[in-house]
Amino acid sequence: MNQENRLDQSSLISWYHDNHRDLPWRRTKNPYLIWISEVMLQQTTVVAVLPYYDRFLKRFPDLKTLANADLESVLELWSGLGYYSRARNLHKAARALLAEGGFPKTAAELEKFPGFGPYTSRAVSTFAYQEKVGVLDGNVIRVLCRRFGLPVRHWLPKERNTLQIKADQLAQTETPDLLNQAMMELGATICTPTSPACLLCPWTSRCLARQESKTTEWPLKKPKMNFETWVWQPEISIYKNQVAFVQNEKMPFLKGQWVFPGVIKKVKVKPKNFDVKHGITRFDIFIQIKKKTRRSNQIKSVKWVALDQVKRINPTTLIQKILQQGLK
Ligand code: ADE
Repeated sequence: MNQENRLDQSSLISWYHDNHRDLPWRRTKNPYLIWISEVMLQQTTVVAVLPYYDRFLKRFPDLKTLANADLESVLELWSGLGYYSRARNLHKAARALLAEGGFPKTAAELEKFPGFGPYTSRAVSTFAYQEKVGVLDGNVIRVLCRRFGLPVRHWLPKERNTLQIKADQLAQTETPDLLNQAMMELGATICTPTSPACLLCPWTSRCLARQESKTTEWPLKKPKMNFETWVWQPEISIYKNQVAFVQNEKMPFLKGQWVFPGVIKKVKVKPKNFDVKHGITRFDIFIQIKKKTRRSNQIKSVKWVALDQVKRINPTTLIQKILQQGLK
């Protein structure tokens, strides 16, 4: 542990001591209460979470109550928060945790439970048990990229790991829980995405982004995908329990694969009527199925495939979806 690290830790923790918001989950070491807060706070703001948090905990005050509740009542109290897989995983994990005798004390063990990714596992283990692990969320990523001058592509696991290592290094202190809360608080209230309040920041004199006037550039922004809308009218031609396939040379997705013959076009406006909708990388595909029971002979290079063999020549979800719909 070097001197600079210690300075970063002590100045940040002392700033946090004087400036943090008093939030309910910061007044407890109970892993259950911390867990619920962290799951709710994913993709939802503090202000929006507060009323839900109170209501949820009145109804499900501990792990056992949540584990023994039925899923419907959990979803009901979640209603309005969105991302309902969070609530489903919460319920599932509550049962598994109870069966295992409660919360394990390390992030590594927590990660085995449903919905416990690296973020949630580390947040629970550091806030409840003072495990010395760094917690990386969007706010923390921004703070680290700027303070340490790390313009990495944080959306790629390998490059994100540079930030995880840095966060772990900072968490090597007697109060890793406070250090982690402080990182989040700094990101949420001072080191904001646009116009950060650098003059109020405890790290202002040592921040590399500030020294190099890069606060707007760092962290790097994930490139946006240019979405395209396509309409595909595949012909499902059935003849003696076989389906016609051609090799795809026209569509920018499923390149070179065996697909149904048919018209394809790129459009500006999403069509109102379609049988199947499917997304592949940056392509939004609207499918309007054309059924043909007679063998369409215009197409050369057509390959007739037995219905039960379709999966073997093209196992993609899109082809299975279209076929299922087309056979109805
Ligand atoms: N967002 C995610 N976790 C948080 C926490 N513990 N405090 C404030 N905001 C958060």
